[in-house]
Amino acid sequence: EKGGYEHFMLKEIFEQPKSIHDTMRGRLLVDEGVIKMAGIWDHVERFKNANRIIIIACGTSWHAGLIGEYLIEEYARIPVEVEYASEFRYRNPIITDKDVVIAISQSGETADTMAALKLAKEKGAFIYGICNVVDSSIARITDAGSYTHAGPEIGVASTKAFTAQLTILTLIAFKLGKHNGNLGNADFMSLIAELDAIPKKIEEVLNTTHELVQNIAKDFVNATNFLYLGRGYNYPAALEGALKLKEISYIHAEGYPAAEMKHGPIALIDENMPIVIIAPKKGHYDKIVSNVQEIKARKGKVIAVVNKGDQQVSAMADYVIEIPETSECFSPIVASVPLQLLAYYIAVYRGANVDQPRNLAKSVTVE
Ligand code: M6R
Repeated sequence: EKGGYEHFMLKEIFEQPKSIHDTMRGRLLVDEGVIKMAGIWDHVERFKNANRIIIIACGTSWHAGLIGEYLIEEYARIPVEVEYASEFRYRNPIITDKDVVIAISQSGETADTMAALKLAKEKGAFIYGICNVVDSSIARITDAGSYTHAGPEIGVASTKAFTAQLTILTLIAFKLGKHNGNLGNADFMSLIAELDAIPKKIEEVLNTTHELVQNIAKDFVNATNFLYLGRGYNYPAALEGALKLKEISYIHAEGYPAAEMKHGPIALIDENMPIVIIAPKKGHYDKIVSNVQEIKARKGKVIAVVNKGDQQVSAMADYVIEIPETSECFSPIVASVPLQLLAYYIAVYRGANVDQPRNLAKSVTVE
C-alpha cells in the first residue's frame, strides 16, 4: 500500500504532481480561460460584498491560510485575516453576517476548527470549507466548499494535503479577482497557464533534488536547532518547513520572515546554526541577498532554495537546492517540496518513526 516507498510520507511527497493535478481537474479549464468552482460561483456575491474573509485553521492548514491571505489580498483585493481556530474561538471575536469564513482542514475533524466554525455560524457568517476528507464533520457544517482532491493522506506530517490546499486557495483568489475586476484578463490567462504547469514543475523538482537533498540531510543528523527564513509568500513556507522538521525529526526549528532576523533571532546565529533560506528570483530577492550576507558574516550554515541559474545567493550558500522559476505566488508550492524531503531524510537518518511521530495524531479531535 506504500507503493514501494519506505514510508507513506515519502509516497505522499512523490504523489504531489498528481494530487495537485487532481485538485485542479475539472476546475481549471485553461483553454477556455475559465476557473469552474460551483461553491464559489453560487455564492460569488457573498464573497464580493464581504467585509472581509477570515481564514480559520490549525497547524499546516493555518500555514496554507497565511499564503491564502497573500493570494486573496493580492489578486482579489478583499481584506483577509488568518486565525488559529483555538485563539479565535475563545477571544470573543468580532464577526458579523457580512463576514465570510474559510475553514481549512485536511481531516475535516479538527475540534478547535469545528468549534470556531460553529461560533462563526451562530453569528451569521457565511462558512466555506476546504477539506480533504469527503463528508467529514467540517465539510458537513459548512455552507459551501471545495474539496482538495489530494487522496488519503496517511503520514501524520501533512504534505500533499498542504500543496492541494494552496492550489484551491490559488484558484479561489484568481476566480474572485477575475470576477471583481481586480485581476485583468491578460494577467489571469497567463497566471492560469502557469498554474496548469505547476505539476510538471513539481515533477522536475522531485527528479532533480531528491538525491541532493538526501545527501544534504546526512550532514544535519546531529543538528539541535534550525532556522527557516523566507519573505513574502515564502514566509509561511518557512514556517511550514520548520514545522515539518520539528514534527518528524524532533529537532527544534523556527520559521521567521527573513527581515525579522535582525529583531532577535540573529543573536542565535553562529557556525553551529543551520539556516534554510528560501530565495527565489521573484520576490524580494535583493533583500534576501543581504539577509544571507548577514548570516554568513556570523558563520551560519546556509541551505538555500534558489532558482535555477542563481548566482548571488548560491555563491554564498553552503548548500544550494535549485528549483524552477515561477511567479512569486506559486513559489511556496514548489519550494515546499525540497523542504518536505529535507525534513523526511533528516528524520529517517535519526531513526525516527516518520509516519507516526511521537505525541502526534493525524486528526486532533480534542481541544
Ligand atoms: O486536519 P487538519 O488540517 O485540520 O489538521 C490541522 C493540524 O492538526 C495539522 O496540520 C498538523 O499540524 C499536521 N500534523 C501538520 O503536519
